[in-house]
Amino acid sequence: MKSAKLPWAISAVLLTLVIAMTYMFILSGSVEKSKDGRTAILLSSDEKDFVLTEMRGFLETVQEITVALSNDDLKAVAKLATASGKATLGGVPAPLMAKLPLEFKSLGIETHTEFDKLADVAKTAKTTNEVTARLGQLMLNCTGCHAGYKLKIESGPQK
Ligand code: HEC
Repeated sequence: MKSAKLPWAISAVLLTLVIAMTYMFILSGSVEKSKDGRTAILLSSDEKDFVLTEMRGFLETVQEITVALSNDDLKAVAKLATASGKATLGGVPAPLMAKLPLEFKSLGIETHTEFDKLADVAKTAKTTNEVTARLGQLMLNCTGCHAGYKLKIESGPQK
């Protein structure tokens, strides 16, 4: 036996590697570059369904808010917006959370927060115009995220 230094050195390298990978994983999530220029997030089929179900919920809310705005019903707008606010966060399974890039998560959380702000604006607004403007601004989060990210099944014969 020469010395115990080599195993220590290997341990140190491994530890550094683990820390670096954990750091990268948390920041970047489970992703790959996509042909269309967007970042593809690699998820299981169930996780993809989970995200898309939430998305369809977002679109339904936006549709209902638009109808409420056309009826000058700001009370209904506030109620609908609150239902898509931060209170709905927390249902995301931890393994899915770990696969999402940090920027994606931030944008997602910010979108829920924006719905709460929209509710606040609807409660105090004098005109529907103010609220419509806020909705238009909120939807920059939708379009911004869609421009940057897509979802892909992580492995297997499917897409
Ligand atoms: C944090 C990122 C992010 C935000 C914010 C976001 N989306 Fe999405 N959305 C996605 C991704 C990623 C997809 C999947 C796109 C793909 O794979 O091409 C998607 C898909 C969708 C779909 C398609 C659902 C399906 O069943 O195929 C709808 C509808 C949708 N989003 C609506 C919205 C609306 C409305 C908002 C804003 C209120 C919004 N999204 C905000 C990331 C986001």
